[in-house]
Amino acid sequence: MNDFRTADDSGVTDRLSRPIHDLRISITDRCNFRCVYCMPKEKFGRDHKFLSRKELLSFEEIERVATIFAELGVRKLRITGGEPLLRTDMVDLVRRLSAVPGIDDMSMTTNASLVSRERAAALREAGLQRVNVSLDSLDDADFIRINDVGCSVRRVLDGIDALASAGFDPIKVNMVVRRGLNENGILPMARHFHGTGVVLRFIEYMDVGSTNEWRADQVFSGREILESIDAEMPLESMQPNYTGEVARRWRYRDGGGEIGIISSVTEPFCRDCSRARLSAVGKLYTCLFAADGFDLRAYLRSGRDDRALKEYVAGIWRHREDRYSELRSRVTVPLKKVEMSYIGG
Ligand code: GTP
Ligand code: 5AD
Ligand code: SF4
Ligand code: SF4
Repeated sequence: MNDFRTADDSGVTDRLSRPIHDLRISITDRCNFRCVYCMPKEKFGRDHKFLSRKELLSFEEIERVATIFAELGVRKLRITGGEPLLRTDMVDLVRRLSAVPGIDDMSMTTNASLVSRERAAALREAGLQRVNVSLDSLDDADFIRINDVGCSVRRVLDGIDALASAGFDPIKVNMVVRRGLNENGILPMARHFHGTGVVLRFIEYMDVGSTNEWRADQVFSGREILESIDAEMPLESMQPNYTGEVARRWRYRDGGGEIGIISSVTEPFCRDCSRARLSAVGKLYTCLFAADGFDLRAYLRSGRDDRALKEYVAGIWRHREDRYSELRSRVTVPLKKVEMSYIGG
């Protein structure tokens, strides 16, 4: 296992001794889907005000921020959205980021509906290493009910095929499971991806943001997911790929590959959380459930040099003590939280 805590001691750590290892970069708050649990149409309708292009960080600015984070210990970059592939110039960003010294893993999270073979190949050639694809059902009627824009399952599976042909390996598929919405799809998904090399991951439905009106009884627990798959296709546990990995890994005993379970509600993993998040307008969030972020864009545009910016970010991280998922049950007043589509999960 790659243990970055001992492998590299030059970086900064927070109040709970957690290093900064991953930076998740959201490049747009827009999405071509309206998943009912993420961007419900009632809240993200025609009159919703999305960010304008000039509010977004430029690719030069993102590259500058990523370079500074890498100097502070970041080794992994993940590009997210909304839907990142709505940015037609994304290949340019990937090329810039893959040249940042110190980065050894660069990935993207996408709904794969906008992936053509040409685009997949261009992203790969530019230096993107891994892709995680969101797909919540294999049943067209259910999937369309969830994405709410009429996108077929076939279109996403074609996107996954295009990514595989371009050489992305492993490809991970993320299925958010919400009780009463798609738990019937757990076994069909497991059967479909068994033996394909795709790593299927099941995600407990989380109380991110405020618009999805999350309720605890909608959580279908990781334990229930595991038990239902194990009963049909026996599983055994695996070691994590790295400290702080959000998914618990399991493999099929018959050699059919691995799956992952992300139980951030029932088994929080804040203790090892080494992720920072940069929004499309350049706000730095030290937790997925934070109410607000630190305005790096204002800092970037104030004319201060990289050293000052690095000190600013290091200071923010040194003061960090977020562990929302561990405290969730003790939070009694409703918090104002940033939306998932804004921060990219
Ligand atoms: P890998 O690098 O492949 O391990 O990716 P990842 O699992 O970190 O990223 P991905 O974008 O695929 O996220 C999968 C799910 O885990 C999403 O629902 C995320 O919101 C959730 N997740 C990722 N990081 C965190 C975190 O720090 N806290 C919580 N609570 N959930 C997280
Ligand atoms: N709970 C859990 N996962 C979510 N995602 C979006 N909203 C939620 C939620 N409320 C997932 C997406 C994507 C990943 C980045 O986050 O489906 O796979
Ligand atoms: Fe769905 Fe992801 Fe788009 Fe949210 S950002 S609406 S989860 S595809
Ligand atoms: Fe990290 Fe916050 Fe998620 Fe805990 S809840 S794992 S601190 S992002």
